[in-house]
Amino acid sequence: MISLRPGIERNAACYYKASMEEARVGIVGLGNVGSGTLAILDENADQIALKLGFRLKVTAVCSRTVHTRKIPSSLEPVIKTADWREVVAHPDVQIVAELVGGTRVAKEILDAAIAHGKSVVTANKELMAACGAEIWDRAIQAGINLAMEASVCGGIPIHAVLREGISGDRVTALYGILNGTSNYILTEMEKRAEPLTTVLAEAQELGYAEPDPSADIDGFDARSKLALLAALAFGEKITPADIFVEGIRRISPMDFQYARALKHTIRLVGAARQTPDGLILSVRPALIPLDTILAGVQGAYNAVWVKGAYGEDTFYYGRGAGPRPTGVAVVSDLMRVAREIRSGSPQRVSPFAHERLGEYRPVPVAVQSRAYYLRFRVDDRPGIIAKLAGILATKHISLESVLQEPCETKNDLPFVITVEPTTEQSVRDAVAEMSELDFLKEAPLALPMETAL
Ligand code: HSE
Repeated sequence: MISLRPGIERNAACYYKASMEEARVGIVGLGNVGSGTLAILDENADQIALKLGFRLKVTAVCSRTVHTRKIPSSLEPVIKTADWREVVAHPDVQIVAELVGGTRVAKEILDAAIAHGKSVVTANKELMAACGAEIWDRAIQAGINLAMEASVCGGIPIHAVLREGISGDRVTALYGILNGTSNYILTEMEKRAEPLTTVLAEAQELGYAEPDPSADIDGFDARSKLALLAALAFGEKITPADIFVEGIRRISPMDFQYARALKHTIRLVGAARQTPDGLILSVRPALIPLDTILAGVQGAYNAVWVKGAYGEDTFYYGRGAGPRPTGVAVVSDLMRVAREIRSGSPQRVSPFAHERLGEYRPVPVAVQSRAYYLRFRVDDRPGIIAKLAGILATKHISLESVLQEPCETKNDLPFVITVEPTTEQSVRDAVAEMSELDFLKEAPLALPMETAL
């Protein structure tokens, strides 16, 4: 028996007619996402059937280790194979879930599925960010559907929001905390005043961070996600290479201390803003005001904040990764695609929220105007501030404040200068000139201050 509403219970077996055709699914990839997907399809099968009015039946699974894997007995598929080609070609598979990750084999799977007239659900952000628009064009021609909710921010249904929920609005800006690992590292550094290397090593030991952490802490994972979200939000063909990226390696506990003194914190922010000249896109650590909703996003959580011309601010929060949150996204896509196949309308809504994407007109981040936080480490001596202020003045940059926490190590003395809004190019020019100064222990760290959030 299944609870539908308080007090009303119906026998699920009667609710959907046994005679109704099932939608037949092939799962390729049984890693974290694939396993989470199978677990949900097994444990939540009755709920799913109640919502659909028919069952989702797993007819094939594929993994290199499929023969040693325990597949839930209720799902026991017809085909268990280590060769994905068998899945996409099999007549008993209507929808292929591509959950292998990487781009080379994943693209072959998608291409083959489309060639066989199978709809595809994918969790693959790299592939979709790199060539999703082209894959969608081919999907249209083949009359099949392509769904990719799980590709960005696993547990947050942000594609559905941009594709349908607020598609009547005109997005003016989108900000996101799009990488859980770097957000976990930053928030732990903030709480415990530990350096990034310590927190990262712990996260790796606990399995929260990859042995090679570059994709997460150098911003590349967040950049692929922003490329997809910006394409949906603004309707332009955006690839990761179009986006300015800077990671979090240079952030240290003292930056949180200074940021707090300025009533800010530091997060890796993916930002896409519409300007009169076009879109400005970046993934970079930035100071954000403590009283803004993004500052409350702690640990491995993700969040996306969308600003619309009509609906104004909406905010979406949840787990960005994990087998079950991402599995929910995959299963929900399978349900949507299955419904669309049954209704005979497989191209109901473009996965990019726009029937066709326009060409991206890049606007370099260097033209953007912001207040900046400049953090220095110096071998102390008289005249340092005067020298730095002199360089700022030659670039027409106006000082806002100078902060120096007490410090005993005069040969490695940190302090911060904040400057009034100026262009990124002016700051880059100033930082390049300052970097030549012999009293600096390292190049100045320049972070934008997102005071307007
Ligand atoms: N590694 C990503 C993160 C999850 O830390 O958010 C997958 O995109």
